[in-house]
Order: sequence, then structure tokens, then C-alpha cells
Amino acid sequence: MAVETQSNPEACDASVDRDRASLAQYYRRIRAMSEQIAFPLSAEDCAIQTMADVSPTKWHLAHTTWFFETFLLKQKGRFEPFDSRFEYLFNSYYNGVGKAFPRDRRGQISRPGLEETYRYRQHVDHLILDWIQSNTLSESQRDVLILGLNHEQQHQELMLTDIKHVLFCNPSQPAYQSADAVEAACVAEPLHWRSADETIAEVGYSPTWTDAGQTSFSYDNEGPRHRRLIHSHKIASRSVTNGEYLEFIQAGGYRDASYWLSPGWDAVCQHEWTAPLYWIERDDGFMQYSLAGLVPLRLDDPVCHVSYFEADAYARWAGKRLPTEFEWEVAAEKSLPGNLFADHLLRDGEPVHPCGRASSDFLGNVWEWTASQYSAYPGYAPVAGTLGEYNGKFMCNQFVLRGGSCATSSDHIRTSYRNFFPPETRWQFTGIRLASDLE
Ligand code: AVJ
Ligand code: FE
Repeated sequence: MAVETQSNPEACDASVDRDRASLAQYYRRIRAMSEQIAFPLSAEDCAIQTMADVSPTKWHLAHTTWFFETFLLKQKGRFEPFDSRFEYLFNSYYNGVGKAFPRDRRGQISRPGLEETYRYRQHVDHLILDWIQSNTLSESQRDVLILGLNHEQQHQELMLTDIKHVLFCNPSQPAYQSADAVEAACVAEPLHWRSADETIAEVGYSPTWTDAGQTSFSYDNEGPRHRRLIHSHKIASRSVTNGEYLEFIQAGGYRDASYWLSPGWDAVCQHEWTAPLYWIERDDGFMQYSLAGLVPLRLDDPVCHVSYFEADAYARWAGKRLPTEFEWEVAAEKSLPGNLFADHLLRDGEPVHPCGRASSDFLGNVWEWTASQYSAYPGYAPVAGTLGEYNGKFMCNQFVLRGGSCATSSDHIRTSYRNFFPPETRWQFTGIRLASDLE
């Protein structure tokens, strides 16, 4: 691509060239992954919304594009939107941008169609890549670009969990990936308890870290780094398995109110919960719906698709509790990543599925519900401007989840990463790690 070197003295510097090339490469890689995730789907699959929490694949493809258009291209002069109606249709929740189309009606957006949506992506990609190549991004614009790519990775995980729900609701329950993909044998590691003495620990994102990817990035809600008193406790070396969770079901866990928080018991009664989402009871035992279709329940895999209420009730039944997010963060520091969403997974036909093979699964497998309410760290300030709405305004009535899942990209997770969802949420890849006080 032609670059004007004369008018830009910086462009003579080889490191700037390298930086520009790697930023463009990074942008292309993340954008391509979204389209790769959508590739096995039909246009009809991409338009469906099966519940308020689920967004159509097409909406994700458009909204992630809208993010770059709104927060980068629109900030430049001479901006022509691709389609002026998109500002409203694909705004998720930013009041600073304007009114947003209601979330629970995204399945009604039959226009633009899928092809038009891909043209929208191409249009914006072209402008963004030109901008990167021209080397005129300011430092703060570069930060927004990198935020936009991390945003897209969050939506890639949402695409996979939303597709899972859409295909599960289809009467024929088709597989997203090849049907034999979940066959591999796996045996859960024996559970160990790791004891931790009382300590004052530093928690939160440390800007001195560098991650495996191209940039050291964190969300505003991971900071500031600060100290916490951690009481003596023990924490499990791995997450709870399907087999262990089955014992809770068979012991009548879903029929005994004494294990449940009050709103949790209300949810059990109202939704008639008797098992995790995607478990289907047959005469000869449970089946589970996976992205590879319906498979017999694999007892050694981590239990997945449980709400905070189920995680909490299971822990109470087991005589344990959930870890706080700070206990979790300190314990996770020395652990290696395993079973995250990697590029090769889609190519090799390996399943996007939590697996018992991972011996230490702090990072990967399932997001782990913590006992911590999602709230601000001491000294927290949302980033300035409309993008401050990204994380900060949700710090109410949600719980923190840690560690990432089999659908989280490996260059999108850290031990300081704070995911958050309301306590009744089940359609994400959510599981359980136990902890307890030291007697
Ligand atoms: C952090 C996963 C709760 O789903 O709204 C996407 C991620 N933020 N676009 C969400 C997000 C902005 C967020 N969660
Ligand atoms: Fe978003």
C-alpha cells in the first residue's frame, strides 16, 4: 500500500512501519475471526433471536462494525455514514450516542440483510485499514481501535453462546460443529485443596504486565490496582464436574429450598429448573446439547451453563462456598491457560466445549462465578466520554465471573479480567469453583 513518506517524518522510522503493519494485521485477524465464526451458519440462522439476552449473529456482525464507525470514523471530519439508520439500529446501549433500538427486538431487524451487513463490514474495514496505513492515528485513537478489537472478541464469545441457544431452540437441534467433535475421552484430575494464609494482596490489572498479544490491554473496570485483605481459606484446584453436579441433582438439590438464596429459589420455581441449561433428561440418563449437537452427558467435563444461584446452591449443599473474586485472582496468578478459544479450534473441528482434560482450569474451560458483586474498585473512574458507558454503568445487581471459557480468545483473557452477568444468567459458558474458610 502506498504511504506518503515525505509529509510524515515518522514514516521513515522502521519501528513505526512495523507498528503500522502489525496493527493492520491485528485488525484483519480479529475482524476475520467474527466472519469465520458466522461461516457455518445459514442467513436464516444469523437472523434469529431466541430470547432477550440472545442477539442475532447478523446483529453482532453489524454492531461490532458500528463500534468502529461510531467511535473512530465519526470522530474524523467529513464523515458519511454507510447508512444513517444504523446509528440507532446497532447502538447497543450508549446514551451518549443517542437512542438505541430495543435489545429484545433485535430479531425483527430483517433489513439490512446478511449480504448488506457484510458490505457494511467491508466498507468500514476499508476506511479503518486506510487510516492505519496512513499512520495518522493519534495515541487515543489507537487506544479506541484496540478497545474496538477487544470489544469484537467479547462479541465473538457472545456469538458462539447465542448461536448455541439459537440452534438448541431449533426443533432439529443441529450441530454447529462436526457431530463427532465431542467424542474424545477425558478424565477429570483429582480435586486438590490449595490452602492460603491470611494476607494483604495486590489485586487488579498491573500496567507492567505484557500479555501474549500485540498490546497490553485491560478494561477500565480491572483497575486501579489496590490492596485487599484476603482471609485464610482454601480453594479448589479445578472446577466442579458434571458428575459431581449430578450428585447434587440426585440428592434432590433442586427440590430443597434450604440450599437456595431467596431469589434463586424463586427462579427455580418460576422457570422449573431441574438441571443446568442444555441438559436433557432421558430414561437412561442425561444428554447435553453442545455445539457439536446432542451428546451423552460427559461426567468428567466441568459443569457448565449454571446460574450464580445454582453455583451458590451447589456450594452450600457441598458444605463449601464460592470464592471471592480476590481469592480467585490470587490463586490464579501461577496458573497456565488451557482450553480457550483458539483460531485452530474452528479449523481442526475441535469442539468449543469445556473439557475435563485441563488439570488447572483457572484460565479457560468455564467462566467461574465468584461471590463478589460487580462493583467499582477504590479510585475507579470510567474512561472519559461516551465510552465510559462501556463497563461502569453496569455496576449494580450483577456478579463477577473470572477466568474465561472455551469460547474466550486466548489473547483476550488475564487473571485480572472481570466479566459480569446478572445472577440468573445461564446461557454463557458458566461454571463453578469451590472454596471454603479454613477451620
Ligand atoms: C462484559 C460480557 C457483560 O455482554 O454486554 C459487549 C461485553 N460490552 N459490548 C456484554 C460487552 C460491550 C458485556 N459483558
Ligand atoms: Fe457491544
